[in-house]
Amino acid sequence: MRTEVAIVGAGPAGLLLSHLLDRAGVESVVVETRSRQYVESRIRAGILEQSTVDLLRSVGLGERLDSEGDVHRGIHLQWPGRRHHLDFQDLVGRSVTVYGQTEVTKDLGRAREAAGQHIVYEVSGTAVHDIGTDRPSVTYTKDGRTERLEAAVVVGCDGSFGPSRAAVPEPRTWERTYPYSWLGILADVAPSTDELIYAWHPDGFALHSMRSAAVSRLYLQVPNGTDPGTWSDDRIWDALAARLGHGHDGWSLTPGPITEKSVLPMRSFVQQPMRHGRLFLAGDAAHIVPPTGAKGLNLAVADVALLAPALAALLRRGDTTPADGYSETALRRVWRCTHFSWSMTTMLHTSSDPFDDRLQRSQLEWIAASTAAATGLAENYAGLPIGF
Ligand code: PHB
Repeated sequence: MRTEVAIVGAGPAGLLLSHLLDRAGVESVVVETRSRQYVESRIRAGILEQSTVDLLRSVGLGERLDSEGDVHRGIHLQWPGRRHHLDFQDLVGRSVTVYGQTEVTKDLGRAREAAGQHIVYEVSGTAVHDIGTDRPSVTYTKDGRTERLEAAVVVGCDGSFGPSRAAVPEPRTWERTYPYSWLGILADVAPSTDELIYAWHPDGFALHSMRSAAVSRLYLQVPNGTDPGTWSDDRIWDALAARLGHGHDGWSLTPGPITEKSVLPMRSFVQQPMRHGRLFLAGDAAHIVPPTGAKGLNLAVADVALLAPALAALLRRGDTTPADGYSETALRRVWRCTHFSWSMTTMLHTSSDPFDDRLQRSQLEWIAASTAAATGLAENYAGLPIGF
């Protein structure tokens, strides 16, 4: 089989790239190890930056997002005895939209299906070849047969455990692991808050997020290696109530039936460059952020928003300049979000060190008291313009 761009991975990065390339008249084929059903039910953070929403709208993916997405002016920051609302709209003139990554992936799946996009799901043994030449290819096994997909360019949108990242010879990598994880739950109960609550508490961080008017998403900081089975539903709701300030200033947390419970590890990771020869990396294949601040999907969207026109210039006009600049341009934003995600994570999660506690409390109080400090957080959370 032959195509112009072979895309490895049918998550949001790979699907959006195929969508943007199609609009630029460039043909692609997508290969994916998982099933479509699996890809469309993966639970991920659900906060879209303004520039992500603008981009999705501008390429015909805004209809359900506009009717079902919930625009939030800001977030609540909390610590014992205090809840402070940060209004991004007032601070930086931008807001965020709560719309699950799962929903973005479903919208993309439907749009690609309607356009007749060739996507091969449930392949195994995917490997990337000849990326140093102008005839790279991807091989994989499907239904017991090995296939070769030849292309002018290969793009790895296959996450940090996929084969694309590993095909780059001698990359530089940076990694930070954290001494805690998140226990995340989905619950069939109306959110007890209008906007997200990020709470510092001596027992550990807690986050109240949401998926819809009837479904809440909440998280608790837990030690690494925690077995979710050791957390009963009652224990979870009690810990959430304590950390989120149930009873303070008349606020209460309404518990409800828990439909999903899982533990998420936290990691920061960057690999550069994001290109080698005719192989380009986008999204989690090149960088992982911890979930505090919900940057993962937004970063993936920013990558492919840069990459699609760069590939169109390369393949349609033989103009190599945007493709040559891709890695450096994308990495500016990657490192900004890497820093922001790290700073939100380390500001809000408790360690066993009382000195850290005091520094964290001082930082939170400064953000609540100073417009300058609040503006910095708001600018990063609501998101920098795509070309940053
Ligand atoms: C989520 O809704 O899953 C979520 C929201 C905000 C975060 C992380 C996760 O910072």
